[in-house]
Amino acid sequence: MRLKDSVLEDNPHWYRDAVIYQVHIKAFADSNADGIGDFRGLTGKLDYLQQLGVTALWLLPFYPSPQRDDGYDIADYYDVNPNYNTLREFKQFLRAAHRRGLRVITELVLNHTSDQHPWFQRARKAKQGSAHRDFYVWSDTPEKYRDARIIFRDFESSNWTWDPVAKANYWHRFYSHQPDLNFDNPKVQAEMLKVIDFWMGLGVDGVRLDAVPYLYEREGTNCENLPETHTFLKKLRAHLDERFKNRLLLSEANQWPEDAAAYFGDGDESNMAFHFPLMPRMFMAIEMEDRFPIVDILDQTPAIPEGCQWAIFLRNHDELTLEMVTDEERDYMYRVYAADPRARINLGIRRRLAPLMKNNRRKIELMNVLLFSMPGTPIIYYGDEIGMGDNYYLGDRNGVRTPMQWNQDRNAGFSQSSPQRLFLPVIIEAEYHYESINVENQERNPSSLLWWMRRTIAMRKNFKAFGCGSLEILPSDNPKVLTFIRSHKDEKILVVINLSRFTQTVTVDLSRYAGMFPEEVFSRNRFPIIQESRYHFTMGQYDYFWFVLRSTEARREPCDEEYLKLKLAEGHPWWDVVNGKAGERFCSFVLPLYLQRVFWFCGKGRVISQITILESCQLKQNDQLFLLTFIKVAYTEWDPEVYLLPLAWISNERLQNVKERYPLEIITPLSLGDIDGFLCDAAYFEEFRELLMKMIHERTKVTGEPVLIWLA
Ligand code: BGC
Repeated sequence: MRLKDSVLEDNPHWYRDAVIYQVHIKAFADSNADGIGDFRGLTGKLDYLQQLGVTALWLLPFYPSPQRDDGYDIADYYDVNPNYNTLREFKQFLRAAHRRGLRVITELVLNHTSDQHPWFQRARKAKQGSAHRDFYVWSDTPEKYRDARIIFRDFESSNWTWDPVAKANYWHRFYSHQPDLNFDNPKVQAEMLKVIDFWMGLGVDGVRLDAVPYLYEREGTNCENLPETHTFLKKLRAHLDERFKNRLLLSEANQWPEDAAAYFGDGDESNMAFHFPLMPRMFMAIEMEDRFPIVDILDQTPAIPEGCQWAIFLRNHDELTLEMVTDEERDYMYRVYAADPRARINLGIRRRLAPLMKNNRRKIELMNVLLFSMPGTPIIYYGDEIGMGDNYYLGDRNGVRTPMQWNQDRNAGFSQSSPQRLFLPVIIEAEYHYESINVENQERNPSSLLWWMRRTIAMRKNFKAFGCGSLEILPSDNPKVLTFIRSHKDEKILVVINLSRFTQTVTVDLSRYAGMFPEEVFSRNRFPIIQESRYHFTMGQYDYFWFVLRSTEARREPCDEEYLKLKLAEGHPWWDVVNGKAGERFCSFVLPLYLQRVFWFCGKGRVISQITILESCQLKQNDQLFLLTFIKVAYTEWDPEVYLLPLAWISNERLQNVKERYPLEIITPLSLGDIDGFLCDAAYFEEFRELLMKMIHERTKVTGEPVLIWLA
């Protein structure tokens, strides 16, 4: 069943262009003043998320659970934790998200359950060797699978725990209250397929496969990434594809690039997988002021099958994991980012992005630019878009899971409950106090981080190359500056990132793009044309550029002549041509040149960013057809202006006559190759004044905006 009123595009690869927002139901917005966020609260905040520009939401586990691992200890796969409302509100939320074009990704925790799950309760009492008992992994001795590492090493000393009821040890890769399911048991596999069918049937767009490398255990291995796991994933994917359209499997495999890439299979396992090793290397690069860690890990990252995509992130709900770094690198990361040992947990650092960047706005922006420029789909962790702080004195990883800060009211506007009842206290440390770091404050200030995030996300979405393009590192002479090209078909984005706290110059080899010019995407400022020689940039501290490389060829050749000729030969009226594809080029290349030559144009000397034809109508006078157009001229640093521009098309034969009738200097011929076109100044259309005024009047009525008219 698909939700009827969704506006989602029918696109099996939607996740490649997505911008994902990771959100915890309990931490986002509380609708019923019980101190815990819920689905109604989240639904009420969808406008905010839509305005941020994200296109998909990843929800942390929201199922009934004893909450000893923040919901990753599931006690019932088919329901909603009563603290977060009911299935009904979940469905309403899903429908509301889809109506806004937002996809929804949920958690499929398949490796383990809570020890409170009825399957475990049944298993521990069931007869040894029975199918029910075999839902989990049991052993008489805790000596089996000794090569498997302990993941939660601050909390657990073994992957086995003795169960006095079963009188046997059960296997768990995480907390001892999270027994691992036994995927060797076909009944377990069948149950998981039923679970996925249930949520997909409700319309969920994708699932994150939690802790997927650990599904199987085999003696003599580290019990990670086993071939059996990949066989099961292929089965899961085939099952999903057979029943549902446009759905996503996202693997959480905290592994080295080769092993993580294996979760794509041959394009027949998960569609996406997290790129864990890239994350700490972005943090290393900015602290070391050196591009090496990033370049090196990208170098080690294999190509991935068609249609697949990496999921990339800076921070999430867990510790900043340092499992995929060397011992020296880990020491370095601890030294620079977690000098206080209390900020460390397991093999990682329990802090949010802003405190990790010492609240340096330039560094926060630079890290986000890195995230948005790297190959993959970016995931933003809730609260990081406003630079929220953390509190590592709260237990476990709770310091990065505190209530979202909406405004300066009680409980940061998150909940109407008594502050004592909140699931976790709000951040009150002076530098990150919710009275100053909150959505409302930042919405009011266009210079805030929130507005910067909105603008940057919106800009990223203009270019396919970021989501779907290849990445080519460009050699340069300054290791503190990272330079690369993202390309997709004809689109080329040049990214230049200064990782240093000082001003830098960099010389890049762009000779392959000689003849093109870089246009900075935010200002649309054009930089000098790229020559055969090396190209030079000067950059401020933690500075960045996104340039789109534009072809100068297109500028030299003002109109798509072949296209025009063809269209005319086919009998299309020429104004259709001006409105169509050639019209775009007409506006981009012909009009800017023309406008510089007419005396009535006020924008001489300003940089035109765009010209658009707002409206046009045809007029006929003595067999001659004219087009009256309103053109809007937008500038990079000036308010836009609207001009009235009559256009006429005159054939070669008539050219002579026209020249005789009108003095040459006030008719501006355009070079369109073999075809002669003319743009005629308004002075010759005095006769049409009455009609013009009517048009203007009509237009003003419709838009309510004043129209600036220039009749030369
Ligand atoms: C989740 C953690 C969780 C663990 C055990 C991880 O993948 O991200 O938050 O504690 O799985 O379920």
